[in-house]
Amino acid sequence: QPKITLPRLQEMKKNGDKIVVITAYDASFSRVVNEAGVDVVLVGDSLGNVMLGLDSTVPVTMQDMIHHMRAVARTNQHALLIADMPYMAYATVEQTLQNAAALMQAGAHMVKVEGGTWLCESVKALSDRGIPVCAHLGLTPQSVDALGGYKVQGREPEAATKMRFDAEALQASGARMLVLECVPSELARIISGELTIPVIGIGAGVDTDGQVLVLQDMLGITPGKRPKFSHNFMAEAQGDIQAAVAAYVAAVREKRFPGPEHSFS
Ligand code: KIV
Ligand code: NA
Repeated sequence: QPKITLPRLQEMKKNGDKIVVITAYDASFSRVVNEAGVDVVLVGDSLGNVMLGLDSTVPVTMQDMIHHMRAVARTNQHALLIADMPYMAYATVEQTLQNAAALMQAGAHMVKVEGGTWLCESVKALSDRGIPVCAHLGLTPQSVDALGGYKVQGREPEAATKMRFDAEALQASGARMLVLECVPSELARIISGELTIPVIGIGAGVDTDGQVLVLQDMLGITPGKRPKFSHNFMAEAQGDIQAAVAAYVAAVREKRFPGPEHSFS
């Protein structure tokens, strides 16, 4: 399979072919998700929750991210690799450049940052230096304390307008991809139509250009309550991890996932 590039993802958006993204944090699962044919692998700071047992992404460090990024890169085949920039690793433009460079040198092809227009300067600085950036709006878990919990974002008309404005501004600053987390499906549909870059949703309905899930959530091994937007693909795969990931890939490509039961109105 040819390596997935940003121009290829752009072409998929144009053709209406859904982009499949999943998280992975180690060499074994990097191989499994590649073999299942995912387009993009995210080394998310959700590794704090699922790999390290933390109850938020706030304590995750650059060292944690580099450690896991390196492992995933070693067994990656064709997927485009995104590394999350962890909490406070992009507080200033200087820090952003230095930390993004470290993640790229650990094997990332793109870095992801959470937030709106305050990030435009950093997004431009990275883009100007050839580091592709994925923005992340809606529920941004690093801001959980400011948000007051893990809740749907953009339900109020003013918040929806602001999210559309932030998305446009980040794209104009050079962002090459956007993740929308926990936003009403209709708003995600509008933003996906307004932007020229691919928009990847999680809890954002079926009308984004692609989907992302946390691997452990879709395998049904996350302790506690499964997030509404996730789905246990292991249930239909008879305990075969490879088949579960392949079922997710097929469901996204065929627009069978997410359904209304995984989405917010
Ligand atoms: O860290 C993560 O896994 C993420 C996705 C949920 C988008 O940021
Ligand atoms: Na993340």
